[in-house]
Amino acid sequence: MQTPAKITNKRYRLNYHITTPSGWMNDPNGFSYYQGYYHIFYQYYPYSAKRGPMHWGHYRSQDLVHWEELPIALTPDSPEDKDGCYSGSAIEKDGRLYLIYTGNHYYDVNDHSRFYQTQNVAFSDDGIHFKKYSGNPAITLPPTDNSQHFRDPKVWQDGNEYYIVVGGQDKKGLGRAITYKSTDLLHWDYLGPIAVSQGANIEGYTWECPDLFSLGREDVLLCSPQGIVANGKEYLNCYQTGYFIGKMDYRNNQFKHGAFQELDHGHDFYAAQTMLTPDNRRIVFGWLDMWHADFPEQADGWCGALTLPRELTLKNDQLYMTPINELKQLRQEKVVDEKQTSSSMQVNVSDPQHLELLLTAKTENWSGNEISFIFKNEQENLVTLSWNKENNEVILIRADKSTTDAQRYGKLRPNSKLKIQVFIDTSSIEFFLNNGELVFSERYYTTKKPAIFINADEPVNISVAGYSLAE
Ligand code: FRU
Repeated sequence: MQTPAKITNKRYRLNYHITTPSGWMNDPNGFSYYQGYYHIFYQYYPYSAKRGPMHWGHYRSQDLVHWEELPIALTPDSPEDKDGCYSGSAIEKDGRLYLIYTGNHYYDVNDHSRFYQTQNVAFSDDGIHFKKYSGNPAITLPPTDNSQHFRDPKVWQDGNEYYIVVGGQDKKGLGRAITYKSTDLLHWDYLGPIAVSQGANIEGYTWECPDLFSLGREDVLLCSPQGIVANGKEYLNCYQTGYFIGKMDYRNNQFKHGAFQELDHGHDFYAAQTMLTPDNRRIVFGWLDMWHADFPEQADGWCGALTLPRELTLKNDQLYMTPINELKQLRQEKVVDEKQTSSSMQVNVSDPQHLELLLTAKTENWSGNEISFIFKNEQENLVTLSWNKENNEVILIRADKSTTDAQRYGKLRPNSKLKIQVFIDTSSIEFFLNNGELVFSERYYTTKKPAIFINADEPVNISVAGYSLAE
């Protein structure tokens, strides 16, 4: 019997984010609503803080804020998924919750470069216990013009029909998204590719975790391409998560779209997945980490967390991400309530690591040029976020990164105010600027108590409200 990994030190454990109970976590999976509960699953290896054959861990919640841990939903114990129950999604049909996921299979467990991937189904009638479909794999082979990369089905319903969009790679080595159609979620007809990368270096050689949905009058294809080469201030992470805005032409199975845009500008955001809530909001979770990061918490028996749930909206030809309203339930006490005109201000709170801050700076007719949010301990600036008035650029700097990897960038549209909403948890910090126009998600690691400063190069009229947070 394998025993679950043990948490040996709680110094970095998050308080109000979804995280692994112990062991390894990556992508959010199966984000859905069933029998009065939101469900979120995740890529999980329970037996070590390093990745291993993936299981599906499982939480549910009635409010998207307080989560209850449930038993492991999927275990890699079938021939088609023996090397991992990889990412996938969930949907209700006729009172049943169906999971559609990728089975990963290495030809030789010591050689991870050669594998085959199939699409599989499992279901549950109570939202707790899952049974794999006896006819698995439901999709045995990728199309003939596909490489071995064939994974991460995202399901949706349209009338009496169900569709999945699957990520992967074509035989030319280009990332792409392909679709299938079904009436029973068990038998699938291949429709073809809906969108293909314009070039391995510019849009990726493999597309992971695709998600296709309508938002307002547009359609959005969200995906996580691997292989985009850094270009100036863009695409600086190991892999990207971003989206194309366009129109899905179902008759010709083509997604006509504009340019790829990054969804989050921080170091730690990947493999995002959305769902439509019963009240019609499009909500997204991402993995609050990045492949090949340092993962300091691995030393403590765990690794990985999910972002806060965020609502997606379309404005000005881009996606905005805002923390969902329900998160206000996390607020305990108002611990900051200040208005001042100054060029240096310390935000004095007893627990800066479990905090929500709402900052508004009036920047119209302001003579200064730079406002910085500095999160530091006595040794170093852990995370600094600076806004530059002249070019509306925002630069985030993480001190633990090498000089070439410390900075991340974004641009804001002109505005008479700079608004920053910040959520800090023990080892995470998420910045939402100007109502979700620009978002930076970060992990940070300190065992010394941090302090928060807001500095400007000229006195600025600023108001700050802050709440202590707890689950
Ligand atoms: C994305 C990903 C998916 C895959 C899963 C495996 O982070 O690589 O493509 O299904 O993780 O854990």
